[in-house]
Amino acid sequence: MSEEIKAPEKKKRIFSAIQPSGTITLGNYVGALRNWVRLQDDYDCIFAVADLHAITVRQDPKEFKKNILEAYALFLACGIDTEKSIFFIQSHVHTHAELAWLLNCYTQFGELSRMTQFKDKSAKHADNVNAGLFTYPSLMAADILLYQADLVPIGADQKQHLELTRNIADRFNGIYGKTFTVPDAYIPEVGARIKSLQDPTKKMSKSDENVNAWVAILDKPETIMKKFKRAVTDSEARVCVGEGKDGINNLIGIMGSVTGKTADEITAEFEGKGYGDFKTAVGEAVVETVRPIQDKYNKLISDKAYLEEQYRKSAEIALRISQRTLDKAKKKIGYIL
Ligand code: TRP
Repeated sequence: MSEEIKAPEKKKRIFSAIQPSGTITLGNYVGALRNWVRLQDDYDCIFAVADLHAITVRQDPKEFKKNILEAYALFLACGIDTEKSIFFIQSHVHTHAELAWLLNCYTQFGELSRMTQFKDKSAKHADNVNAGLFTYPSLMAADILLYQADLVPIGADQKQHLELTRNIADRFNGIYGKTFTVPDAYIPEVGARIKSLQDPTKKMSKSDENVNAWVAILDKPETIMKKFKRAVTDSEARVCVGEGKDGINNLIGIMGSVTGKTADEITAEFEGKGYGDFKTAVGEAVVETVRPIQDKYNKLISDKAYLEEQYRKSAEIALRISQRTLDKAKKKIGYIL
């Protein structure tokens, strides 16, 4: 049999980033991180810990430093592989702040004023509505455009920012000729939207005051079990998807996303069983999913030298790639390089 030899197809480039917030929830893992891990084989992936974005709200220096390193280690533990992908810390690559400034001058006040996240966050942090909070989307545009990314995996809350990124890129390209790739959103095919365990009409969020509403990837097994046992359900006592059964629908979604089983399979498995049994089973399945991640995380976080080697190596490559784009943009504007 003759095998046809083809030139390898150029992989599409993906860029995404997550802020170092201290806690990664099960929702973040299933909704974002786990998808990043899966994308690594099929795409040319560049990921970052968005620590420049994080200071748009006040951070305690000690906590902040700890959170950045922990986020980096946790993402590696989840399966981000620096042999396959570039994974760096945003503040280590100075081109981001530099392009963000340039792009600020191609972003309109009106556009930024319409960002719903800006409106929400300024209401929430009314005592600190700083200029960075306002221009946050142009920094995000810089992140993406510096790498000429084709696709950007994002959640629904970042769609508006990506749309603005596209507008900025189009505008710049329109004035100076093609400089930036105009990126598309990458919406993963599956991925149950994981809801709060206490109010399943809301998204699971670590900013929820009720700690029982969310599960962190690094929660202890007994904490995870306790949170699932307390999860809100309904009075029907039948494990199946249904209207008005938001709590059970959510638990079935979680069970499905950690075991790969369909809702029908789960329903069949728990036929005739009570909610207590089901909640225990979901808790156990989640514990089994996070166990290897926690083991790996514990090893990584105690090996600072290894972590440093990884983020330095990636930052160096990221700088090289992004510098080319930054220089190109500066040249077009008329700067002397
Ligand atoms: N703003 C994103 C968030 O809060 C994080 C982020 C920063 C990002 N830069 C990015 C996401 C670039 C995608 C692409 O979730």
